Amino acid sequence: MTRKFFVGGNWKCNGTVEEVKKICCMLNTGEVPCPNHIDTIVAPPFVFIPLVKSLLRSDFQIAAQNCWVKGGAFTGEISAEMLVNIHIPWVILGHSERRTLCGESNEFVADKTEYALSQGLKVCLCVGESLKERENHETSNVVAKQTKAVADKIGCWANIVIAYEPIWAIGTGKVATPEQAQEVHYNLRKWLDQNVSPQVAQNTRIIYGGSVTAANCKEIGSQPDVDGFLVGGASLKEEFITILNARN
Ligand code: G3P
Repeated sequence: MTRKFFVGGNWKCNGTVEEVKKICCMLNTGEVPCPNHIDTIVAPPFVFIPLVKSLLRSDFQIAAQNCWVKGGAFTGEISAEMLVNIHIPWVILGHSERRTLCGESNEFVADKTEYALSQGLKVCLCVGESLKERENHETSNVVAKQTKAVADKIGCWANIVIAYEPIWAIGTGKVATPEQAQEVHYNLRKWLDQNVSPQVAQNTRIIYGGSVTAANCKEIGSQPDVDGFLVGGASLKEEFITILNARN
């Protein structure tokens, strides 16, 4: 089977109302592949989600950048139910910035993934190694461990996209080579094949994130196990449209 190309724009903690309006206008007028061929997702900061939802054309889907588990006494957090309640289909979980800066463990990310899926959200699950781990040749183990924590808790993978984001490539301009990305994606798919099922390995989209730009997207996106991108900085700019067309 062919896996549908997937491109997400993670706006992170950026933007003002004025800037959000400009980005939406840029996206609305951009030439993007037909939704039969691509899933296009944008993940604005929580506070701008309603605005983006009201402005953006309907072939762009919206994601939250994180969520908690069940709602309750968790000051400052957003629950999975709240996202469902305002009809947000996707959530990004396990981004390395949250793992590193907010101390989110593999188990906590897995708990949130399990809960978000149970509420009907689709999850873009981020995994990836640090520079030190890569230098110590631990990349495949780290990525497998992060994935295993989730695999231990969920039964159905239909609503998960895995984003491989090497930490050393995020926001650094130091993009993984197409070969490096392909190698990790291939190994991760093999892990899914051996530890979950051949079907899940075959069907699950594994996308790459980390300094993706208009200049490097075509080459990385042409690797057999790279099914799209999770884009940070470049998703705030016009070049995001070029990245959406990486397979054309
Ligand atoms: O989630 C996307 C991300 O972490 C990559 O960011 O700015 O390197 O494209 P960037």
